[in-house]
Amino acid sequence: MLILGLESSCDETAAAIVEIHDGGGLEDARVLANVVVSQLKEHALYGGVVPELASRAHIRHIGPVLTETFHQASLTPKNIHGVAVTIGPGLIGGLLVGLATAKGVALAASVPLVGIHHMEGHLLSPFLTQSIAKPLDFPFVALLVSGGHTILLHARGLGDYEFLGQTRDDAVGEAFDKGARLLKLGYPGGPAIEKMAEKGDPHRIPFPRIMLDKKKFDFSFSGLKTSLKNHLAPWLAGEAFADRIEDVAASYQEAIVDTLTGKALAACRHTGSHRLLVAGGVGANQRLRARLHEDAGEEIALYFPPLSMCTDNATMIALAGWAHLQKNPRVHWGTLDARARWPIRELCNREKMGAPPL
Ligand code: KG4
Ligand code: ZN
Repeated sequence: MLILGLESSCDETAAAIVEIHDGGGLEDARVLANVVVSQLKEHALYGGVVPELASRAHIRHIGPVLTETFHQASLTPKNIHGVAVTIGPGLIGGLLVGLATAKGVALAASVPLVGIHHMEGHLLSPFLTQSIAKPLDFPFVALLVSGGHTILLHARGLGDYEFLGQTRDDAVGEAFDKGARLLKLGYPGGPAIEKMAEKGDPHRIPFPRIMLDKKKFDFSFSGLKTSLKNHLAPWLAGEAFADRIEDVAASYQEAIVDTLTGKALAACRHTGSHRLLVAGGVGANQRLRARLHEDAGEEIALYFPPLSMCTDNATMIALAGWAHLQKNPRVHWGTLDARARWPIRELCNREKMGAPPL
């Protein structure tokens, strides 16, 4: 089965074609084409994504991205068996560009179209790195960390997700991006802070670890950002400042990494899970990966997507699309709509609400 995936929920215009043979599973996916056009340069000037600029850029990029994708795979739309597109959550302009394009391709090729929750795409992305020594399978705990979300859930099977917790305020990627803006390191903040932190002492400044004990799998990052702002106040005002920026960046990153590591491993203990999966843009962070490896010990196996597939891409959307089409092969292209807001909770604990898993 050949599935075309489209992703345009934020500032990447992406398309991909994934192949899975009959009788195969997620772990058998082969990526035939993977094209991502990033709008980083278009937004860098503003220190964050400007929705209207993103919409216009998606309109400009989607056609060439699609052409390049079919070219890479040496296929035409007539060869594919289904189209999967991110329909939410995200910026509505970008979502509509992707959805309108996906409808057009699905209609022209007379194949089913399926709408995907962006974070379910991230959730399944680690299936794209399969190792024979350590194959990924359900159940597992998933830590989903991106620019807009910080989510912990227990994935018991495809579409069978138990919600554990999420951020109450800023997402972890946002904490990196806002932190980098305060540190004058540019956008996107995650890679910039990570790079600066390499030369710093992570234990120099004791930034708070906000653990929210009562709701133990919820996160909060806005207090951390405020504490960074307070710490930097003299530096921002051009006054004498005792710390090196490298140490501030490393200490700030360490506070984030400590919180994520502590909560994710606690979630594994709580659910009795021996597998922990980390996906989403922040999953590319090497300090996070190293700390998880240190703290998880032998008991818990760790899974990440390939580095290039941590940030937004369409292979993960095609993969999720394949999974949905397996369960419900008669998805119609005409009824789909985009949803800027689409809480991940709607995908979780469905059996308790009497709804089918997927
Ligand atoms: O998943 P993603 O590409 O887009 C969303 O769905 O939001 O995640 C983007 C986020 C940004 O906030 C970016 O700063 C962060 O992921 N990010 C990182 C790293 N690479 C990207 N954060 C920490 N370390 C990184 N290496
Ligand atoms: Zn994402």
